[in-house]
Amino acid sequence: MSGIHNPNKKEGKYRIAWLPGDGIGIEVLDAAQIVLDKLKFKADYIHGDIGWEYWCKEGDAFPARTIDLLKNVDAALFGAITSKPVKAAEAELTPELKGKGLTYRSPIVRMRQLFDLYICLRPLKAYPGNPLNFKENIDLVVFRENTEDLYSGVEFNPVPRELADTLLKLAKPFGAFKDVPLDKYAISCKINTKKGSERIIRAAFEFAKKFGRKKVTCIHKANVVRATDGLFLETFKEIAKEYPGITTDDANIDAICMWLLKNPFNYDVLVAPNLYGDIISDLCAQMVGGLGFGCSGNIGEKLAVFEPTHGSAPKYAGQYKVNPIATILAVKMLLDWLGEKEKGVALESAVATVIAAGKVRTYDIGGDAKTLELAEAIAAQL
Ligand SMILES: NC(=O)c1ccc[n+]([C@@H]2O[C@H](COP(=O)([O-])OP(=O)(O)OC[C@H]3O[C@@H](n4cnc5c(N)ncnc54)[C@H](O)[C@@H]3O)[C@@H](O)[C@H]2O)c1
Repeated sequence: MSGIHNPNKKEGKYRIAWLPGDGIGIEVLDAAQIVLDKLKFKADYIHGDIGWEYWCKEGDAFPARTIDLLKNVDAALFGAITSKPVKAAEAELTPELKGKGLTYRSPIVRMRQLFDLYICLRPLKAYPGNPLNFKENIDLVVFRENTEDLYSGVEFNPVPRELADTLLKLAKPFGAFKDVPLDKYAISCKINTKKGSERIIRAAFEFAKKFGRKKVTCIHKANVVRATDGLFLETFKEIAKEYPGITTDDANIDAICMWLLKNPFNYDVLVAPNLYGDIISDLCAQMVGGLGFGCSGNIGEKLAVFEPTHGSAPKYAGQYKVNPIATILAVKMLLDWLGEKEKGVALESAVATVIAAGKVRTYDIGGDAKTLELAEAIAAQL
């Protein structure tokens, strides 16, 4: 199926872009290396510069050389990056780069747009024996649209006069803001296209069909955000007609946060525009043990980049104490996407065995094992 699996399994060595990034991103990728080596996965791992260090010294957290690298690999594994608001980011630039009009943008958001990695796939499974499971047997899959919506990057602060005048002419409700000085408000554009909505919704249904999932739920706020979320919901209803064997429903983003906690077993595959998908991913991650268990695939037609859902967790950086399971499950997704099914199955089974045994646990699961010790314990099961 387009998007989820790369149909061309390779006979020789793979080229994998290795993008540790910042903070604990470096540590969890060291853990990933341990299991990949144990699996005897045939690959060259090519390091790519990305993250805060490159913003501070080069004014670009996602340098052109890393973009070029991603054009020539089979897939990528990414750790995490540190992002800061625009003014805080500018303050940390090396003195020669200050005042040159450089603006910080998250490299992972740029990567998703540049390589059209339109599917953000997030499986969230409660592995038996994990004491952090909200309930046993939770097994949800989030399809988050990954390139548009409120993450379009079209933002204004201060607001240009021309834009304010046009909005006043075209949008009645904008009258409420007409007397606010231009430097006293900001505008972030939520842009959702028919094509962008169609392809993420179709990917969710195709996944459900392929893996025997019973239900797809659309998440939105179409009663208030009528133009963009209205388009998303309407598209969902159109595409749902093509999949008569799959049950469908839809829910507002606020309501689904309550329903997911109340009745998680009423849900199966969830599909959402970018921001709502981001929100429910963390909620669902917490139901299966927290950010240490949330893995993620950013998948396009030509490239896929796998990562833990969590960030660089600066307060733990350098301590090698965080949970590597999210990243190891991201490795499993990478193997699946490359068509290396057997290795993917073996890796997931090793993770499940170590969780169930409960002997080697990082701090978040109530143990005192270090990041690489947990990775070694998983590797020992392979
Ligand atoms: N994809 C990404 O690279 C990404 C995602 C989210 C946040 N960020 C960035 O990361 C930085 C830190 O953000 P944050 O603190 O809000 O979120 P975070 O995900 O980095 O960490 C939040 C908290 O979650 C827990 N946690 C995260 N990963 C864990 C793991 N593997 N094991 C155990 N506990 C774990 C820790 O308690 C941590 O303090 C920010 O600069 C943010 O912009 C990057």
